[in-house]
Amino acid sequence: MSDTTQWKWSGRRALGTAIGIWAAVFGWLAVSGVAAGEDEGDVPYVPTPQKVVNKMLKMAEISKDDVVYDLGCGDGRIVVTAADKYGAKGIGVDIDPQRIKESRKNAKEKGVTDLVEFREQDLFKTDLTEATIVTLYLLPDVNRKLRPKLLKQLRPGARVVSHSFDMDEWKADKKVRVVEKEGGVELVDVGDFSEFGVSLGSSGSDTDSESDSGESSQSESDSSGISPVVGNSKATLYKWVVPADFAGVWSWTLKTSAGKRTYGAILKQTFQGISGQMVRPDQTKATVTNGKVKGYQVRFEVPEALKSDGQKLLFEGRLDPKRDVIEGNVTIFGNGEEKTLDWKAIRANPLEDG
Ligand SMILES: C[S@@+](CC[C@H](N)C(=O)[O-])C[C@H]1O[C@@H](n2cnc3c(N)ncnc32)[C@H](O)[C@@H]1O
Repeated sequence: MSDTTQWKWSGRRALGTAIGIWAAVFGWLAVSGVAAGEDEGDVPYVPTPQKVVNKMLKMAEISKDDVVYDLGCGDGRIVVTAADKYGAKGIGVDIDPQRIKESRKNAKEKGVTDLVEFREQDLFKTDLTEATIVTLYLLPDVNRKLRPKLLKQLRPGARVVSHSFDMDEWKADKKVRVVEKEGGVELVDVGDFSEFGVSLGSSGSDTDSESDSGESSQSESDSSGISPVVGNSKATLYKWVVPADFAGVWSWTLKTSAGKRTYGAILKQTFQGISGQMVRPDQTKATVTNGKVKGYQVRFEVPEALKSDGQKLLFEGRLDPKRDVIEGNVTIFGNGEEKTLDWKAIRANPLEDG
């Protein structure tokens, strides 16, 4: 399926499906009495509970330097909270004029009108180039349709946090479950595409618990690590870090015991995953494994770097997009020893995607 696939969401059918999904996942529509907005758009209006909003912003690692875009902003609570709690700038976009009115009113009440802006606009027509954080509470197919735009317009390192719905083949860098319990909410890390720097083979079963109120949370977890649910809130949050483009043919020189030797790599990239081959000085090839991109950073391993002695290499570096070079270091593991050298790779040519 290509990223340019167009999904047809015609009002009533989409609305029916949407309500079905939400009702199934949360049951919030029933308990909160929230009805769909006056303008149907691609997704009906259901607000993210404030406790979950707080977790979404924390997960995005927000700071005052960020520019947060909430696509389908509802009553503006995500950007208003970003401005109020963190001093970040925010843009809320919603197709429903009633929601925009409510957003502006909420911003005024919190005294953050100088930091936020609300636009009555179709989210698919919103320019995202200025955003450093994008938040979403849409629907699976809407996320899927939005995906190429996010990857094209957002700068590497920008974070996307989605309430409830994933991005299909673009696996999340982090996935947590927000479990409501007495006295706050708890984050349970359910992993996915594992965090940068951790071997991709790991299952990500760590539990990251914290009370929303800052109080220490009394864990009542069962053996699965998931706490019993209190109330109706049980949301899954997904986070992606927009990857820079590392696909291409790279070359570098290393000082070895036999003198300076030139190496190469043919790297392929699918979203934040890196695969390919390293080319040894004698032109033979070794497989690249555990390759991962996070923003401008890359890491990959070459387990069989030297055919003879089982030497393994770990490459870690950062792309300078202006010079198109990766600078970092390579750690050489072999014969029970570990040695780290500077690594500077130059891109010979970019590869076609896929
Ligand atoms: C589920 S609500 C999420 C509200 C808010 N982001 C939150 O998390 O509380 C989805 C919102 O998207 C808006 N929406 C639906 N289709 C849209 C479109 N094509 N462009 C802009 N907004 C849209 C709806 O009006 C609704 O307010």
